[in-house]
Amino acid sequence: MAEPYYATTPIFYVNAAPHIGHAYTTILVDVASRYQRLAGRDVRFLTGTDEHGEKIAKAAEAAGTTPQAYVDEVSAQFRSAWDELGIAYDAFIRTTEPRHQAVVQEVLQRVYDQGDIIYGEYGGLYCVKCERYYTEKELEDGTCPQHGIAPEYRSEANYFFRMETYRPWLREQLETNPDLIRPEGYRNEVLAMLREPIGDLSISRPKARVPWGIPLPWDEEHVTYVWFDALLNYWSDLVSHGLEERYWPAAEHFIAKDILKPHGVFWPTMLKAAGLPLFRHLNVHGYWLVEDRKMSKSVGNVVRPLDLVDRYGNDAFRYFLLRDMRFGLDASFHELGLAERVNADLANDLGNLLARTVGMLGKYRGGVVPAFGPREDADRALQATFAALPDAVLRHVEALHYDEALAAVMAAVSEANRYVSDRAPWELAKEAARAGELDTVLRTCAEALYATSVLLDPVMPERMATLRARLGVPGDVHLDDAAAWDRVPEGTRVEAGEALFPRVDLEALKATMEVGDGADAPAEAVEAPLPHKPEIAIDDFAKVELRVGTITAAEDHPNADRLWVLTVDLGPETRTVVSGIKAHYTAEQLVGTTVIVVANLAPAKLRGVTSQGMILAAEDAEGTLSLAGLDRPLAPGSEVR
Ligand code: MSP
Repeated sequence: MAEPYYATTPIFYVNAAPHIGHAYTTILVDVASRYQRLAGRDVRFLTGTDEHGEKIAKAAEAAGTTPQAYVDEVSAQFRSAWDELGIAYDAFIRTTEPRHQAVVQEVLQRVYDQGDIIYGEYGGLYCVKCERYYTEKELEDGTCPQHGIAPEYRSEANYFFRMETYRPWLREQLETNPDLIRPEGYRNEVLAMLREPIGDLSISRPKARVPWGIPLPWDEEHVTYVWFDALLNYWSDLVSHGLEERYWPAAEHFIAKDILKPHGVFWPTMLKAAGLPLFRHLNVHGYWLVEDRKMSKSVGNVVRPLDLVDRYGNDAFRYFLLRDMRFGLDASFHELGLAERVNADLANDLGNLLARTVGMLGKYRGGVVPAFGPREDADRALQATFAALPDAVLRHVEALHYDEALAAVMAAVSEANRYVSDRAPWELAKEAARAGELDTVLRTCAEALYATSVLLDPVMPERMATLRARLGVPGDVHLDDAAAWDRVPEGTRVEAGEALFPRVDLEALKATMEVGDGADAPAEAVEAPLPHKPEIAIDDFAKVELRVGTITAAEDHPNADRLWVLTVDLGPETRTVVSGIKAHYTAEQLVGTTVIVVANLAPAKLRGVTSQGMILAAEDAEGTLSLAGLDRPLAPGSEVR
């Protein structure tokens, strides 16, 4: 029986529609699951929605509806977004489902019966958005590090899970199983949390105050809904299908760093108390920032994944997300970066290999794939590169190095393009005696494309299926097919078609961004940067001769009301400078003033008077002018550098 693999996303709160951050984790787990399926493993992929709690109830109230109607609607929005993003989940769980509630109640009762849940009074700083208490030390400048808002002091009689009891045990688990939380930086963060008492975890709320939750089985006056409810989804889905034995030992949780403590501390201790084994890995990724800032509704920089899918296609969007984030670290989203990535890797490198291959097969072989002819070292070298990739890609993916997995495949695609240039099939085609060699090159290209389509299938399932259809070999694939080098057999008819990944017009995109930036700039946005001129080298700047001058006379221009004809003393020389500053300065203000003169400017006639230089002035946005000068007197003619 195939080895099981069980992957989960966080279950998302239903108080807002999905954004690029939710989409990223879900696409990531989709890709991880698809690679494992491709490698033949028995995969279960779970996602879902987290529907209880105070903030959901408040959101429903704000929307003027009941909590149930509200969560039904938003949960459906998540599902339909995942459908549009091509997410092939096996199960979707909602915490309001009876099958989940039954498991939560059963586990609660068990932990209560063994004495690990106690009743008590607690006061502390609570962030409603995180739905948890914070210690003073965890706060940043007195605010919640996730939401930047001040938590409120709360004091309530609640039930508490005796989490602190399990602290030594959890430390030992992390010491003996260093891979449990990865990458290592997050494991270290959790170890640091465990150096000091973690306290007991409040798991209930009085029903009178917050009715929107699961009733405690031994006390109907209290509901649990916070993390004790949410985290158990990973287990309850399996139990409700009788699949826990099969999949639980293979559990891979994927989350972002915002919910590290609940997953790295609450969850393992809960599992221990419930007598359940630990998950296999907790995989923690960083945050997508938008142009280096945290996404937030109030800043107005929330990126909606479906808008990008409309513009670039789903598969290109998925590819970008995985290629441009290093797992564990934050990444900054910029649409131009996405467009450039699509152009460079997909439209150019991969698109080029496909266009060349199909084009040459059409031109030289009537669109039909030939048998291999005699093979040379170059043909074998390219085959060897691809043959090594299935293992390498799977290793990268299992180590969470998605970016490197994709970079490795794209490096092979570039190698294939170089191979075509080096083998120059257009030259081989000129000599009838080399027809066998030409066959080899054409067939090698077809196999390289097929292999690429398999290796990238989990990331771009729709486009890669289209690619195989173009090669005339549609159908299911297995990771090993990428190394087979015999999957596009002699006689297969290839098909030309539209570009798999249309090239994005970067100039047009930049133009829309300039318009957009002004029009939609949110109130809190940072000021627009200066409109810089093209960068120049120091040598270019050194060509400008600037000198200190003193204005000795200001006369009316014979032909222009707005111009002064200035006499400027440069020490050994006197210059006439025509200057358009009459609206800003009187003759009295100017005479005797020290100015900076561009002394080597080619003379120019301005309305009939020759000007031998220019004086420097600054103007602000309101149109106020100020002459550039010196902060202490220097002799006329001194050079400004
Ligand atoms: N409901 C809880 C999770 C319970 S799991 C037992 C919750 N929900 S959430 O809707 O706030 O989702 C948080 C998760 O969304 C993050 O851990 C991450 O997977 C994803 N992301 C949200 N914003 C993100 C970014 N800006 N960047 C990357 N992922 C982000 O917490």
